[in-house]
Amino acid sequence: MNQSFNMLERLIIIMAMRKEAFNEDVRKADNHMTVTKEELIEQLNVDLSHEYGAAIQYSYSASVVSGIYRSALKSFFEEEIEDELGHALYLSNKIKALGGVPTTKAAKVPQPEDVKGILEAVLEAESDTIVRYEKRMKQAEELGLTELATTLEDMIKDETGHKEEVERLLLDERFK
Ligand SMILES: [Fe+2]
Ligand SMILES: [Fe+2]
Repeated sequence: MNQSFNMLERLIIIMAMRKEAFNEDVRKADNHMTVTKEELIEQLNVDLSHEYGAAIQYSYSASVVSGIYRSALKSFFEEEIEDELGHALYLSNKIKALGGVPTTKAAKVPQPEDVKGILEAVLEAESDTIVRYEKRMKQAEELGLTELATTLEDMIKDETGHKEEVERLLLDERFK
């Protein structure tokens, strides 16, 4: 008797969970939304792992950059670390505030050894981040998360500044 009651309870819980998922899909379709809050949290966690990755990438780059560029590039890379960690802290707080669990995992970071390779890897990471944040900003707007959308816009400005700085460095004749 007890066992069948447990099974019934479990069935009710499963049905309630399915109904909640169904309702979420209906809400999404009704409002012509491309993401649910849960999906946004999942993608913000991907963004967070890339911010941790960016801090690691700049630390790595500052450590290994060598040759005549070392003195100029070392401080440039070091300054970016703080920006990226600031972004990570913001996203981590936001994920928690939205009801999610912030990741503690960093995205995988390449380890080029030559200066040009280091700069190109940074450029690629910054460009990818800008594309992700432009998408994320639209999703946040759709869900009515104005503060998140506005902060993402500020972060796009920061990342664009990083990207353009690296692009200028890569214009050096010696990198051709
Ligand atoms: Fe960042
Ligand atoms: Fe950046």
